[in-house]
Amino acid sequence: MATPVTLIPGDGIGPSIADATVRILAAAGADVEWDRQVAGMAGVARWNDPIPDATLDSIKRTRVALKGPLETPVGEGFRSINVALRKTFDLYANVRPAYTIVPGRFDNVDIVLVRENTEGLYIGVEHYVKIGDDPKAAAESVAIITRHGSERIVRYAFEYAIANNRQKVTLVHKANILKFSQGLFLDVGRMIAREYEGRVQFEERIIDAMAMHLVMRPEQFDVVVTTNLFGDILSDEISGLVGGLGLAPGANFGTNAAIFEAVHGTAPDIAGKNIANPGALVLAACMMLDHIGDRGRATSIRNAFEGTIRDGAVLTRDLGGTSTTDQFTDAVIARLV
Ligand code: NAI
Repeated sequence: MATPVTLIPGDGIGPSIADATVRILAAAGADVEWDRQVAGMAGVARWNDPIPDATLDSIKRTRVALKGPLETPVGEGFRSINVALRKTFDLYANVRPAYTIVPGRFDNVDIVLVRENTEGLYIGVEHYVKIGDDPKAAAESVAIITRHGSERIVRYAFEYAIANNRQKVTLVHKANILKFSQGLFLDVGRMIAREYEGRVQFEERIIDAMAMHLVMRPEQFDVVVTTNLFGDILSDEISGLVGGLGLAPGANFGTNAAIFEAVHGTAPDIAGKNIANPGALVLAACMMLDHIGDRGRATSIRNAFEGTIRDGAVLTRDLGGTSTTDQFTDAVIARLV
């Protein structure tokens, strides 16, 4: 029976790269039944809500979604898309794999970043502090790290390593300075790591040194787990090691659902021109197929996709080619076996 999956094409280049992805999955024979829903500006246009209840209800039903990039409307009264999704589905693990397809500056990068998605400095507890007559003399942002949140994300990283034949988990922190919040994350990480001793190697890095090691010798890293803010920054750094945002997929896993997406945004500068690279969303769809248990088709799509890029004859502009989104999509489909 076909697996129901919520499809949110998104804004800007979203509908075009979503169409490309749907075409490739259909050509590969993926047994998926798309439930098309809107969000972002398309949600505002249709329901005056960037994250309409109908869309949330669909994900509650299917528990799996593929999401194109969304434009967050500026202005009061609109719900934040990411906050609504994160809260409704408790999407605590943000997983971003990045690997070398075409050797460039680095030949052999294969890193999966696991970022805690619900805690840390991004919980949104902030305020100004009035001193004297100045109501904004200072500003304070609160970072919350919990034992529960740390345990589940570090455990997620180790379980991911085991399920995907990975050798090592690197925990990234700043416990030397932030002794309480980052210290708790590190303590919990060490405790969880002991449970996996002999099965998965474990190492620790301080965030600033990690940023340097990543650009000097990224090949040494495998699975990397860290807190929200550090994960946000490192994941973009890591995508830059392997060719940039056009090839960077991401997934958000929670207790109640999994949402797969491209890391990039709506690319308004190239929207409607049929030149966007659908690669990041295609790779996100492959992660989605892995998740619903169709690893075989995920692998054959990845092979066709990588083959097209290595061949180099049909590439979109961001990868140095002159081909359109449709031509690139056709080239990937032609390689499916
Ligand atoms: P962006 O990622 O949309 O674009 C940055 C640059 O990368 C642009 O030059 C764009 O043309 C290029 N680019 C991005 N994806 C590409 C692709 N698939 N193929 C070829 N080139 C590509 O970031 P920007 O401009 O900062 O944000 C634009 C909008 O996207 C904003 O409204 C922002 O809020 C939204 N956004 C949404 C995200 C999401 O829904 N997950 C994530 C990031 C931004």
